[in-house]
Amino acid sequence: MTGASAAFDLRGKLALVTGGGNGIGAGIAGVLAQAGASVVIADRDASAAGRTVEALQQQGHRAYAVAVDLAVEASVVKACAEVIAAHGTPWLLVNNAGLHDRELLLETTVGEWDRIMAVNARGPLLMTREIARAMVASGAGGRIVNIASNSARTPSVVGLASYASSKGALVALSLTSAFELVEHGITVNTVLPGGVVTPGAIGARGPATAGPGRRKPPLGMCEPQDIGAAVLFFASPAARHVTNQMLTVDAGASLT
Ligand SMILES: NC(=O)c1ccc[n+]([C@@H]2O[C@H](COP(=O)([O-])OP(=O)(O)OC[C@H]3O[C@@H](n4cnc5c(N)ncnc54)[C@H](O)[C@@H]3O)[C@@H](O)[C@H]2O)c1
Repeated sequence: MTGASAAFDLRGKLALVTGGGNGIGAGIAGVLAQAGASVVIADRDASAAGRTVEALQQQGHRAYAVAVDLAVEASVVKACAEVIAAHGTPWLLVNNAGLHDRELLLETTVGEWDRIMAVNARGPLLMTREIARAMVASGAGGRIVNIASNSARTPSVVGLASYASSKGALVALSLTSAFELVEHGITVNTVLPGGVVTPGAIGARGPATAGPGRRKPPLGMCEPQDIGAAVLFFASPAARHVTNQMLTVDAGASLT
């Protein structure tokens, strides 16, 4: 194995990817599996999770599914316990699952704010709590990568008050997680994607996507595997001393 490939070798590692049934999460799972990781897809959509697992297995990778609804604490606790019992403590947790739905600021409802916060911010908190407890108990360290959004820092399209706030909360969760977990050898980093064409992005409810986000990113649209490559870096031996960092992958959208 060359120095370059050893730096990104995840053979023997177990990765847990939330929302890996579709879109960016499926892309992340594919990149991690190609680097040698075994992958558990945690999704509330069992058939989507099953499709990702089957595709990975057909390519010769080790992949498994677990059902979870991130909005329900008991479901998160149960799913994490099942994963640990069946496959051992994950080396890597990727908090990827999220809801995209939009409402105009002046029409924002408490119900939608709570629904989005429960999945996009509280869900990653609960996953981090459950998996990091096991990582700490294992004594082996670990990696956590949170998938936020460039909309947490740059307004892109209208209607993102709840969504962007949830991603801002996730950024803050990343920073505090990095701080509290570093003494256990656990790194925590954040990827902030720009627009990626996924089932969630296409199917999101809300007003027409007016705003600068309608402009084409100078480098073209990102694909799910572009986000996966950033996750792979943070998960890899190459990044063993990298924590508390944010990496935007937006094809230059922030320049437009
Ligand atoms: N697509 C984009 O343009 C874009 C841009 C920036 C950030 N992101 C972020 O990337 C992440 C993935 O987005 P995507 O575009 O692939 O979305 P997607 O909707 O295509 O896929 C999300 C997956 O998460 C799962 N999921 C949703 N709610 C869940 C819950 N309560 N419990 C468990 N699983 C749940 C869905 O079943 C689905 O498989 C999200 O956090 C999103 O906010 C996406």
